Amino acid sequence: MSRRILHIISSPQGEASVSLKLGNAIIEKIKLKYPGSTVKERNLVTIPFPHLDDVQIGSWFTPAEHRSAGQVAAAKISEEAIAEMKEADIYVIGAPFYNFAIPSTLKAYLDHIARPGITFRYDENGKPEGFLKNKKAYIATASSGVYSEGEFQSFDFVSPYLKFLLGFLGITDVSIIRAEGLRIDGIKETAFEKGVESIVIS
Ligand SMILES: Cc1cc2nc3c(=O)[nH]c(=O)nc-3n(C[C@H](O)[C@H](O)[C@H](O)COP(=O)(O)O)c2cc1C
Repeated sequence: MSRRILHIISSPQGEASVSLKLGNAIIEKIKLKYPGSTVKERNLVTIPFPHLDDVQIGSWFTPAEHRSAGQVAAAKISEEAIAEMKEADIYVIGAPFYNFAIPSTLKAYLDHIARPGITFRYDENGKPEGFLKNKKAYIATASSGVYSEGEFQSFDFVSPYLKFLLGFLGITDVSIIRAEGLRIDGIKETAFEKGVESIVIS
């Protein structure tokens, strides 16, 4: 059966971006497995999400009928992004390593997606429940260094963070695909191909 894919792009490097190319390779393989799948792009660089401010956060906690004009506009940004997430079956998320973490464009976007009462809640026992269920996410990471093993492994704040946050929102099926060691002689030559070869579509 065909799938609806949401491709979330956070690299500012355009066509030269490795995480973009890796994301496209993932999408190609999804399409091979699920012919007829559609792709929607959410480019966080060309249309960045604003950092959360008091108007945005205030809008979340104000009933729709009591919102100011500013709060209505602010809430719309988040609500449209969440509607897009809900519509998709599969997320392909480009996540370059920026200072051992995700680019701030991606963080700003996720801050608009994680909404109490809308994409998650805490139940009466304080246990979190995510509402984005029955989804699959592929994270396409790119990094100069190697983080899947070796001395820098514990400095990977990209994959643990994304896995945890997505799981918190209900997206528990997350695959990390890495193009890593892009600046290391002896590794960089095959880094992208190795990443592509590691893609397994479920
Ligand atoms: C601002 C900045 C910070 C970076 N920080 C890291 C880092 O912490 N670790 C790393 O291995 N590579 C780092 N890099 C290298 C990028 O992760 C690498 O160039 C990657 O290919 C970027 O993804 P992209 O090609 O999709 O833009 C950084 C690059 C930039 C521009």
